[in-house]
Amino acid sequence: MFAALSACVWSEMRASAAATSLSLNQRPIIGVLAQENLQRDRFAQGSSYIAASYVKYLEAAGARVVPIRINRTEEEYTEIFFSINGLLLPGGDVDLQTSQCSQAARIFYNLALRANDARDYFPIWGTCQGFQQLSFFTAKENLLTLTDTRAVALPLNFTRMSHSSRLFRSFPKDLLQTLAEENITSNFHRWSLSTQNYSRNTNLKRFYKILSTNNDGKKEFISTMEAYRYPFYAVQWHPEKSPFEWIDKPGMVHSTAAVRACFHTASFLVSEAMKNFHRFSSPADEDKALIYNFSPVFRGVDAVFVQNYYFD
Ligand SMILES: *[C@@H]1O[C@H](CO)[C@@H](O)[C@H](O)[C@H]1NC(C)=O
Ligand SMILES: *[C@@H]1O[C@H](CO)[C@@H](O)[C@H](O)[C@H]1NC(C)=O
Ligand SMILES: *[C@@H]1O[C@H](CO)[C@@H](O)[C@H](O)[C@H]1NC(C)=O
Ligand SMILES: *[C@@H]1O[C@H](CO)[C@@H](O)[C@H](O)[C@H]1NC(C)=O
Repeated sequence: MFAALSACVWSEMRASAAATSLSLNQRPIIGVLAQENLQRDRFAQGSSYIAASYVKYLEAAGARVVPIRINRTEEEYTEIFFSINGLLLPGGDVDLQTSQCSQAARIFYNLALRANDARDYFPIWGTCQGFQQLSFFTAKENLLTLTDTRAVALPLNFTRMSHSSRLFRSFPKDLLQTLAEENITSNFHRWSLSTQNYSRNTNLKRFYKILSTNNDGKKEFISTMEAYRYPFYAVQWHPEKSPFEWIDKPGMVHSTAAVRACFHTASFLVSEAMKNFHRFSSPADEDKALIYNFSPVFRGVDAVFVQNYYFD
Protein backbone atom coordinates (compact mmCIF):
# COMPACT_ATOMS: atom_id res chain seq x y z
CA MET A 1 0.00 0.00 0.00
CA PHE A 2 2.90 2.28 0.87
CA ALA A 3 4.62 1.49 -2.45
CA ALA A 4 1.44 2.04 -4.44
CA LEU A 5 0.77 5.36 -2.76
CA SER A 6 4.24 6.75 -3.35
CA ALA A 7 4.45 5.57 -6.98
CA CYS A 8 1.18 7.33 -7.69
CA VAL A 9 2.08 10.52 -5.87
CA TRP A 10 5.48 10.51 -7.52
CA SER A 11 4.24 10.52 -11.09
CA GLU A 12 1.68 13.18 -10.26
CA MET A 13 4.37 15.32 -8.66
CA ARG A 14 6.69 14.95 -11.60
CA ALA A 15 3.98 16.09 -13.99
CA SER A 16 3.14 19.14 -11.91
CA ALA A 17 6.79 20.03 -11.33
CA ALA A 18 7.45 19.93 -15.07
CA ALA A 19 4.42 22.08 -15.82
CA THR A 20 5.56 24.80 -13.47
CA SER A 21 9.31 24.53 -13.86
CA LEU A 22 9.65 28.07 -15.19
CA SER A 23 7.96 29.71 -12.22
CA LEU A 24 8.70 29.65 -8.53
CA ASN A 25 6.52 28.58 -5.65
CA GLN A 26 5.78 31.89 -3.92
CA ARG A 27 4.09 30.20 -0.94
CA PRO A 28 6.81 27.84 0.32
CA ILE A 29 6.25 25.72 3.41
CA ILE A 30 9.22 24.23 5.23
CA GLY A 31 9.02 21.35 7.68
CA VAL A 32 10.97 21.64 10.94
CA LEU A 33 11.63 18.36 12.73
CA ALA A 34 10.80 18.09 16.44
CA GLN A 35 12.97 16.08 18.82
CA GLU A 36 12.85 14.32 22.15
CA ASN A 37 12.90 16.72 25.09
CA LEU A 38 15.66 14.98 27.03
CA GLN A 39 15.91 17.62 29.76
CA ARG A 40 12.19 17.57 30.58
CA ASP A 41 12.57 21.10 31.97
CA ARG A 42 9.94 22.75 34.15
CA PHE A 43 8.44 24.54 31.14
CA ALA A 44 7.92 21.34 29.16
CA GLN A 45 4.37 20.76 27.96
CA GLY A 46 5.02 17.53 26.11
CA SER A 47 7.76 15.01 25.44
CA SER A 48 9.15 16.67 22.28
CA TYR A 49 9.95 20.23 21.22
CA ILE A 50 11.05 22.64 18.51
CA ALA A 51 13.03 25.74 19.49
CA ALA A 52 11.02 28.74 18.28
CA SER A 53 14.18 30.40 16.91
CA TYR A 54 14.14 27.98 13.95
CA VAL A 55 10.55 28.90 13.19
CA LYS A 56 11.22 32.66 13.32
CA TYR A 57 14.35 32.12 11.24
CA LEU A 58 12.31 30.68 8.37
CA GLU A 59 9.34 33.00 8.78
CA ALA A 60 11.62 36.07 8.65
CA ALA A 61 12.87 34.86 5.26
CA GLY A 62 9.41 34.34 3.74
CA ALA A 63 8.39 30.75 4.48
CA ARG A 64 5.67 29.21 6.58
CA VAL A 65 6.52 26.36 8.91
CA VAL A 66 4.98 22.96 9.51
CA PRO A 67 6.18 21.14 12.64
CA ILE A 68 7.08 17.52 11.98
CA ARG A 69 6.33 15.50 15.07
CA ILE A 70 8.38 12.50 16.14
CA ASN A 71 6.94 9.02 16.65
CA ARG A 72 4.83 8.98 13.50
CA THR A 73 4.57 6.20 10.90
CA GLU A 74 6.49 6.09 7.64
CA GLU A 75 3.16 6.54 5.79
CA GLU A 76 2.46 9.77 7.71
CA TYR A 77 5.97 11.10 7.05
CA THR A 78 5.61 10.27 3.35
CA GLU A 79 2.35 12.19 3.18
CA ILE A 80 3.98 15.20 4.91
CA PHE A 81 6.98 14.96 2.58
CA PHE A 82 4.74 15.38 -0.46
CA SER A 83 3.00 18.35 1.19
CA ILE A 84 6.03 20.50 2.09
CA ASN A 85 8.73 22.21 0.04
CA GLY A 86 11.82 21.64 2.14
CA LEU A 87 13.06 20.38 5.48
CA LEU A 88 15.09 21.89 8.31
CA LEU A 89 16.85 19.58 10.80
CA PRO A 90 17.59 21.73 13.88
CA GLY A 91 20.28 21.61 16.51
CA GLY A 92 19.81 19.56 19.66
CA ASP A 93 21.13 16.66 21.63
CA VAL A 94 19.50 13.38 20.60
CA ASP A 95 21.10 10.07 19.63
CA LEU A 96 22.05 10.07 15.93
CA GLN A 97 21.07 6.46 15.51
CA THR A 98 18.39 5.43 17.98
CA SER A 99 16.29 8.58 18.64
CA GLN A 100 12.83 8.94 17.14
CA CYS A 101 14.06 12.28 15.78
CA SER A 102 16.93 10.70 13.85
CA GLN A 103 14.72 7.89 12.61
CA ALA A 104 12.28 10.45 11.19
CA ALA A 105 15.14 12.50 9.75
CA ARG A 106 16.45 9.40 7.99
CA ILE A 107 13.05 8.69 6.42
CA PHE A 108 12.92 12.23 5.03
CA TYR A 109 16.55 12.02 3.87
CA ASN A 110 15.80 8.87 1.87
CA LEU A 111 12.59 10.35 0.44
CA ALA A 112 14.52 13.48 -0.59
CA LEU A 113 17.25 11.46 -2.29
CA ARG A 114 14.62 9.62 -4.30
CA ALA A 115 12.65 12.77 -5.11
CA ASN A 116 15.69 14.70 -6.31
CA ASP A 117 16.76 11.71 -8.42
CA ALA A 118 13.30 11.92 -10.03
CA ARG A 119 13.82 15.68 -10.71
CA ASP A 120 11.50 16.66 -7.88
CA TYR A 121 13.70 19.36 -6.28
CA PHE A 122 13.56 19.05 -2.48
CA PRO A 123 16.05 20.93 -0.25
CA ILE A 124 17.24 19.80 3.19
CA TRP A 125 19.07 22.07 5.61
CA GLY A 126 20.86 20.71 8.69
CA THR A 127 22.04 22.95 11.54
CA CYS A 128 24.46 21.58 14.19
CA GLN A 129 22.81 18.26 15.15
CA GLY A 130 21.14 18.40 11.71
CA PHE A 131 24.60 18.66 10.14
CA GLN A 132 25.67 15.63 12.17
CA GLN A 133 22.59 13.61 11.20
CA LEU A 134 23.15 14.37 7.50
CA SER A 135 26.82 13.37 7.73
CA PHE A 136 25.83 10.14 9.50
CA PHE A 137 23.18 9.19 6.90
CA THR A 138 25.56 9.80 3.99
CA ALA A 139 28.69 8.27 5.55
CA LYS A 140 26.67 5.29 6.82
CA GLU A 141 28.73 5.48 9.99
CA ASN A 142 29.25 7.88 12.87
CA LEU A 143 32.55 9.64 12.11
CA LEU A 144 32.22 12.43 14.67
CA THR A 145 34.97 13.34 17.07
CA LEU A 146 35.03 15.46 20.24
CA THR A 147 36.23 19.06 19.85
CA ASP A 148 36.61 21.98 22.22
CA THR A 149 33.79 24.01 20.70
CA ARG A 150 31.09 24.12 23.36
CA ALA A 151 30.60 27.88 23.41
CA VAL A 152 32.75 29.84 21.00
CA ALA A 153 32.30 32.31 18.14
CA LEU A 154 34.58 31.71 15.16
CA PRO A 155 35.29 33.21 11.73
CA LEU A 156 34.70 30.88 8.76
CA ASN A 157 37.77 29.57 6.99
CA PHE A 158 36.34 29.45 3.45
CA THR A 159 37.62 26.85 1.00
CA ARG A 160 38.33 27.70 -2.62
CA MET A 161 35.19 25.76 -3.59
CA SER A 162 33.02 28.04 -1.46
CA HIS A 163 33.35 30.83 -4.05
CA SER A 164 31.41 28.84 -6.63
CA SER A 165 29.03 27.24 -4.10
CA ARG A 166 25.29 27.70 -4.48
CA LEU A 167 25.00 28.79 -0.85
CA PHE A 168 27.71 31.43 -0.55
CA ARG A 169 27.43 32.71 -4.12
CA SER A 170 24.13 34.22 -3.00
CA PHE A 171 25.78 36.22 -0.16
CA PRO A 172 26.83 39.89 -0.41
CA LYS A 173 30.61 40.23 -0.84
CA ASP A 174 31.10 42.45 2.22
CA LEU A 175 29.28 39.92 4.40
CA LEU A 176 31.51 37.08 3.15
CA GLN A 177 34.52 39.17 4.07
CA THR A 178 33.18 39.82 7.57
CA LEU A 179 32.39 36.11 8.00
CA ALA A 180 35.98 35.30 7.05
CA GLU A 181 37.56 37.96 9.29
CA GLU A 182 35.41 38.31 12.40
CA ASN A 183 34.35 35.77 15.02
CA ILE A 184 30.63 35.90 14.28
CA THR A 185 29.53 32.27 13.80
CA SER A 186 28.22 30.70 17.01
CA ASN A 187 29.48 27.20 17.83
CA PHE A 188 27.75 25.14 20.53
CA HIS A 189 28.76 21.56 19.86
CA ARG A 190 30.92 18.87 21.39
CA TRP A 191 30.99 16.66 18.32
CA SER A 192 32.47 17.62 14.97
CA LEU A 193 33.21 16.07 11.59
CA SER A 194 36.96 16.44 11.14
CA THR A 195 38.28 17.09 7.64
CA GLN A 196 40.48 14.06 8.25
CA ASN A 197 37.54 11.67 8.75
CA TYR A 198 35.63 13.29 5.90
CA SER A 199 38.56 12.61 3.58
CA ARG A 200 38.69 8.98 4.65
CA ASN A 201 35.04 8.25 3.86
CA THR A 202 34.34 7.88 0.14
CA ASN A 203 30.55 8.23 0.58
CA LEU A 204 30.97 11.64 2.22
CA LYS A 205 33.70 12.87 -0.07
CA ARG A 206 31.70 12.09 -3.19
CA PHE A 207 28.51 13.56 -1.77
CA TYR A 208 29.49 16.81 -0.04
CA LYS A 209 31.90 19.59 -0.89
CA ILE A 210 33.46 21.46 2.01
CA LEU A 211 32.66 25.19 1.96
CA SER A 212 34.29 26.21 5.24
CA THR A 213 36.36 24.72 8.03
CA ASN A 214 37.24 25.66 11.58
CA ASN A 215 39.75 24.60 14.16
CA ASP A 216 39.62 24.08 17.92
CA GLY A 217 43.39 24.42 18.15
CA LYS A 218 43.87 20.66 17.72
CA LYS A 219 41.52 19.38 15.04
CA GLU A 220 40.25 20.92 11.83
CA PHE A 221 36.53 20.31 11.35
CA ILE A 222 33.93 21.12 8.70
CA SER A 223 31.75 24.11 9.55
CA THR A 224 29.76 24.41 6.29
CA MET A 225 29.13 21.97 3.45
CA GLU A 226 26.76 21.49 0.52
CA ALA A 227 26.05 18.41 -1.56
CA TYR A 228 27.36 18.28 -5.12
CA ARG A 229 24.26 16.81 -6.74
CA TYR A 230 21.50 17.41 -4.21
CA PRO A 231 20.10 20.61 -2.65
CA PHE A 232 21.36 19.52 0.79
CA TYR A 233 23.16 22.01 3.04
CA ALA A 234 24.73 21.67 6.46
CA VAL A 235 26.17 24.14 8.96
CA GLN A 236 27.83 23.11 12.20
CA TRP A 237 27.34 26.69 13.49
CA HIS A 238 24.08 28.37 14.50
CA PRO A 239 22.94 31.19 12.21
CA GLU A 240 19.50 31.33 13.89
CA LYS A 241 20.81 32.21 17.36
CA SER A 242 22.13 35.70 16.59
CA PRO A 243 18.76 37.42 16.16
CA PHE A 244 16.54 35.06 18.14
CA GLU A 245 18.30 33.68 21.25
CA TRP A 246 19.46 35.82 24.20
CA ILE A 247 21.25 33.59 26.72
CA ASP A 248 24.29 35.53 27.89
CA LYS A 249 27.28 33.28 27.35
CA PRO A 250 30.47 33.06 25.28
CA GLY A 251 29.81 32.27 21.63
CA MET A 252 26.62 34.32 21.38
CA VAL A 253 26.91 37.18 18.86
CA HIS A 254 24.27 39.81 18.12
CA SER A 255 26.22 42.07 15.75
CA THR A 256 24.62 43.43 12.60
CA ALA A 257 26.85 41.18 10.49
CA ALA A 258 25.88 38.05 12.46
CA VAL A 259 22.20 38.88 12.07
CA ARG A 260 22.69 39.51 8.34
CA ALA A 261 24.49 36.16 8.01
CA CYS A 262 21.50 34.52 9.68
CA PHE A 263 19.09 36.14 7.26
CA HIS A 264 21.11 35.20 4.18
CA THR A 265 21.28 31.52 5.12
CA ALA A 266 17.52 31.43 5.70
CA SER A 267 16.77 33.43 2.57
CA PHE A 268 18.89 31.01 0.55
CA LEU A 269 17.05 27.98 1.96
CA VAL A 270 13.66 29.58 1.27
CA SER A 271 14.72 30.36 -2.31
CA GLU A 272 15.58 26.67 -2.70
CA ALA A 273 12.19 25.64 -1.27
CA MET A 274 10.53 27.91 -3.85
CA LYS A 275 11.75 25.45 -6.51
CA ASN A 276 9.57 22.73 -5.03
CA PHE A 277 5.86 22.33 -5.81
CA HIS A 278 4.62 19.83 -3.26
CA ARG A 279 1.37 20.88 -1.64
CA PHE A 280 -1.20 19.79 0.88
CA SER A 281 -4.21 17.96 -0.51
CA SER A 282 -6.51 20.84 0.57
CA PRO A 283 -6.27 24.33 2.12
CA ALA A 284 -7.95 22.91 5.23
CA ASP A 285 -5.24 20.25 5.61
CA GLU A 286 -2.59 22.95 5.15
CA ASP A 287 -4.19 25.12 7.86
CA LYS A 288 -4.29 22.20 10.27
CA ALA A 289 -0.61 21.38 9.73
CA LEU A 290 0.91 24.86 10.15
CA ILE A 291 2.83 25.90 13.28
CA TYR A 292 0.22 28.66 13.91
CA ASN A 293 -1.90 25.96 15.59
CA PHE A 294 0.64 25.87 18.44
CA SER A 295 1.90 28.50 20.87
CA PRO A 296 5.52 28.84 21.93
CA VAL A 297 6.31 28.82 25.65
CA PHE A 298 8.54 31.58 27.10
CA ARG A 299 11.26 29.87 29.13
CA GLY A 300 13.24 32.93 30.27
CA VAL A 301 15.88 35.03 28.59
CA ASP A 302 18.59 32.95 30.26
CA ALA A 303 17.35 29.65 28.81
CA VAL A 304 19.27 28.03 25.95
CA PHE A 305 16.08 28.47 23.91
CA VAL A 306 14.11 31.54 24.86
CA GLN A 307 10.88 30.01 23.53
CA ASN A 308 10.00 26.41 22.65
CA TYR A 309 7.06 24.75 20.97
CA TYR A 310 6.13 21.57 22.81
CA PHE A 311 4.38 18.49 21.44
CA ASP A 312 3.10 15.31 23.02
C1 LIG B 1 5.65 5.66 19.37
O1 LIG B 1 6.07 5.50 20.70
C2 LIG B 1 5.57 4.33 21.33
C3 LIG B 1 5.97 4.37 22.78
O2 LIG B 1 7.34 4.63 22.90
C4 LIG B 1 6.08 3.11 20.60
O3 LIG B 1 5.57 1.94 21.18
C5 LIG B 1 5.66 3.19 19.13
O4 LIG B 1 6.25 2.11 18.43
C6 LIG B 1 6.08 4.50 18.52
N1 LIG B 1 5.55 4.60 17.18
C7 LIG B 1 6.32 4.91 16.11
C8 LIG B 1 5.60 5.01 14.81
O5 LIG B 1 7.51 5.10 16.17
C1 LIG C 1 37.19 9.43 13.14
O1 LIG C 1 36.02 8.67 13.39
C2 LIG C 1 36.11 7.76 14.47
C3 LIG C 1 34.80 7.01 14.59
O2 LIG C 1 34.58 6.26 13.43
C4 LIG C 1 36.39 8.50 15.75
O3 LIG C 1 36.54 7.60 16.81
C5 LIG C 1 37.65 9.33 15.60
O4 LIG C 1 37.84 10.12 16.75
C6 LIG C 1 37.58 10.23 14.39
N1 LIG C 1 38.87 10.88 14.20
C7 LIG C 1 38.98 12.13 13.82
C8 LIG C 1 40.35 12.68 13.73
O5 LIG C 1 38.03 12.83 13.50
C1 LIG D 1 38.56 34.28 16.95
O1 LIG D 1 38.73 32.98 16.42
C2 LIG D 1 40.08 32.59 16.33
C3 LIG D 1 40.09 31.20 15.70
O2 LIG D 1 39.90 31.28 14.33
C4 LIG D 1 40.72 32.56 17.69
O3 LIG D 1 42.08 32.23 17.55
C5 LIG D 1 40.57 33.90 18.37
O4 LIG D 1 41.03 33.81 19.69
C6 LIG D 1 39.12 34.33 18.36
N1 LIG D 1 39.03 35.68 18.89
C7 LIG D 1 38.15 36.01 19.82
C8 LIG D 1 38.14 37.45 20.22
O5 LIG D 1 37.36 35.20 20.29
C1 LIG E 1 42.23 27.39 6.81
O1 LIG E 1 42.22 26.15 6.14
C2 LIG E 1 43.44 25.85 5.47
C3 LIG E 1 43.22 24.58 4.67
O2 LIG E 1 42.83 23.54 5.50
C4 LIG E 1 44.54 25.73 6.50
O3 LIG E 1 45.78 25.46 5.85
C5 LIG E 1 44.65 27.03 7.29
O4 LIG E 1 45.60 26.88 8.31
C6 LIG E 1 43.30 27.37 7.89
N1 LIG E 1 43.38 28.69 8.52
C7 LIG E 1 42.97 28.92 9.76
C8 LIG E 1 43.07 30.32 10.25
O5 LIG E 1 42.53 28.03 10.48
